[in-house]
Amino acid sequence: MDIRVAKNAQEWVAMAADTLQEVVQSKPDPVLMLPTGSTPIALYEELVERYKRGEFSMGHVITMNLDEYVGLSQDDEQSYHYFMQKHLFDHVDIPKEHTFIPRTDIDPHAACAEYDEVYRQFGPADAVFLGLGHNGHIGYNEPGTPFENRTAVVELSQSTLKANEKSFAGRNDMPTTALAVGPAMIMESKLAVMLVRGADKADILNTILTHEITTDIPGTLLQRHPNLRVIADEAAAAKLGDLAG
Ligand code: GLP
Repeated sequence: MDIRVAKNAQEWVAMAADTLQEVVQSKPDPVLMLPTGSTPIALYEELVERYKRGEFSMGHVITMNLDEYVGLSQDDEQSYHYFMQKHLFDHVDIPKEHTFIPRTDIDPHAACAEYDEVYRQFGPADAVFLGLGHNGHIGYNEPGTPFENRTAVVELSQSTLKANEKSFAGRNDMPTTALAVGPAMIMESKLAVMLVRGADKADILNTILTHEITTDIPGTLLQRHPNLRVIADEAAAAKLGDLAG
């Protein structure tokens, strides 16, 4: 396990972007699995800056996103399609046809089968970048998700629904299910990068790295990943003790 602790926000973002850039520049057809949520936004901003400064290209990259809500159209501001366009895809040179996100415009089970097919063509990922839910979810693999799952329709947990209420304030169509790349696909990635920031993640980060591996806390599965890199700020790493070196 490779745990890197950044001293400040700037160092954190540089560690994350350097990791991604290294993978992108390591081969002609790199495949990245990408997260949404608030944590990776600074990483995407940094990638856009590096691209604009001409420091690297993503023209040869294939991306597969980890998840998408069921029931939102792709141009809905809360959809992950919209999120990825806004924060990354609109600003860099990845060909649109090489950016994959589970589809929301067809039956969810058909969308899962189609995404598994995309994965059969391009996977496994050279690197998966992950955020961490407060209940230990990775992607949208909520507590109880079987580790052998591939792309699946997942029920969002009560704690996730609660966390999402803010974003869907004033609406009556908050999604209760999502499509998620399963734990099995995350584990097949050659490199797994856990991105984590903030004091509110300190307990759950320590838990996923030290608790007995259990589907009740999906992130614990990462302990079995042969090439796991954790990129944390000091606040998130505060409870790691000796683990963080
Ligand atoms: C959502 C996303 C996850 C993400 C998590 C953490 O649940 N589906 O992929 O990791 O939020 O979000 P944040 O980074 O905002 O804490």
